[in-house]
Amino acid sequence: MNILLIGAGGRENAFSFKITQSKHCEKLFIAPGNAGTAQFGQNLDINVLDFNAVKATVLANNINFVIVGPEEPLVRGIHDYFLADADLAHIPVIGPKKDGAQLEGSKDFSKQFMHKYGIPTAASKTFTIDNLPEGIAYLESHTLPIVLKADGLAAGKGVLICNSITEAQTELTLMLAEAKFGKASEMVVVEEFLNGIELSVFVVTDGTNYVILPEAKDYKRIGEADTGLNTGGMGAISPVHFANAAFLQKVEERVIIPTINGLKAEGIHYKGFIFIGLMNDNGEPNVVEYNCRMGDPETESVLPRIESDFLELLMAVADENVANYKLQISPKTAATIMLVSAGYPSNYINGKTITGLENVKDSMVFHAGTISENNTIKTNGGRVLAITSLQNDLFTAVQQATADAGRVYYDGVYFRRDIGFDLL
Ligand code: AMP
Ligand code: GLY
Repeated sequence: MNILLIGAGGRENAFSFKITQSKHCEKLFIAPGNAGTAQFGQNLDINVLDFNAVKATVLANNINFVIVGPEEPLVRGIHDYFLADADLAHIPVIGPKKDGAQLEGSKDFSKQFMHKYGIPTAASKTFTIDNLPEGIAYLESHTLPIVLKADGLAAGKGVLICNSITEAQTELTLMLAEAKFGKASEMVVVEEFLNGIELSVFVVTDGTNYVILPEAKDYKRIGEADTGLNTGGMGAISPVHFANAAFLQKVEERVIIPTINGLKAEGIHYKGFIFIGLMNDNGEPNVVEYNCRMGDPETESVLPRIESDFLELLMAVADENVANYKLQISPKTAATIMLVSAGYPSNYINGKTITGLENVKDSMVFHAGTISENNTIKTNGGRVLAITSLQNDLFTAVQQATADAGRVYYDGVYFRRDIGFDLL
């Protein structure tokens, strides 16, 4: 098969690494990719949101299988575009159509979906500019903290946790009346704050059956001990020991099965990944959010633990044969540490020369924001490299990943040295 993988991050580098291990992969193309994916296939410099450009590329390169990494092409309907085009309709696309991608593309949709199908989540109410005064009044008697979420995609910035009623009222007004997050905040979900420890569970479904991938914990804040601004993710570990069998069984019964059945009941034929962000509140799962894709950097911890043929799993999604796929998982622990640019998640400068990659001893290096220029690898994003070490236990994994992260250098390199330490 000739495969097109859409995306440019550490997630896509980890996908490339796994997919090219499969005997079914003849040629891998990555659009647009990065310096790491180029080691596994051919990068294609196209705008993946321009679906006509994607079509031209697919036809020119005889591509017959498409895997979509990030959410935006899915939310904008890349899968629907393929199905509606006579030249492309026969090519499988892994990732939901627009209807299913709403699980991530609209917080209001996902909350209504969870409430309708009895999936445990924070109580919520949605407001628009038309009922802003009602929203202001509603906040008066809300318990603190108050969580405000822009309905649409807001590059990970659309969730605000407010510690006073006045702050929440001000922010709700900014979002609805002043388009704080543009079109994404034309609708705002107001919800209760959930207590507990966060983790993520990943499901692959063909629309009827599903496979549960290893769970992971992501470290979102820029600073050690979970301080400072939110980022796309500064590290991850998998497995997560507090997600024991009893907890995961509750997740399957209360969340995964009702989600798959709910999608079916809505007439949504979902083929792809469902990322379920969970809060573990003393052993009870509550859903924080759904994403219609894999997580980043969670993928860089999860995929190295998959021992079975990952591409065969995706082929089973296309063939609606996931029920017969036997997932094999390594019992080892993966720890991933993200190396980021100075200034991230605020302003940062690209183009710093990366050295020392050859000194990494016992970890995998996944490129996130890198570019290759004249045989030199340079930084090209806020999140630059993900270093994953797979070891017999969490302590060794984080120790090795941290040591290897320290062997890589570029001007302004920063990473957290406490990934996984809260769980040791
Ligand atoms: P989301 O975009 O929905 O993933 O939200 C971003 C982050 O905000 C989550 O990963 C949580 O850390 C936090 N968050 C979102 N909703 C809640 C909630 N209801 N209670 C507590 N934290 C939340
Ligand atoms: N690491 C969180 C995400 O991928 O959304």
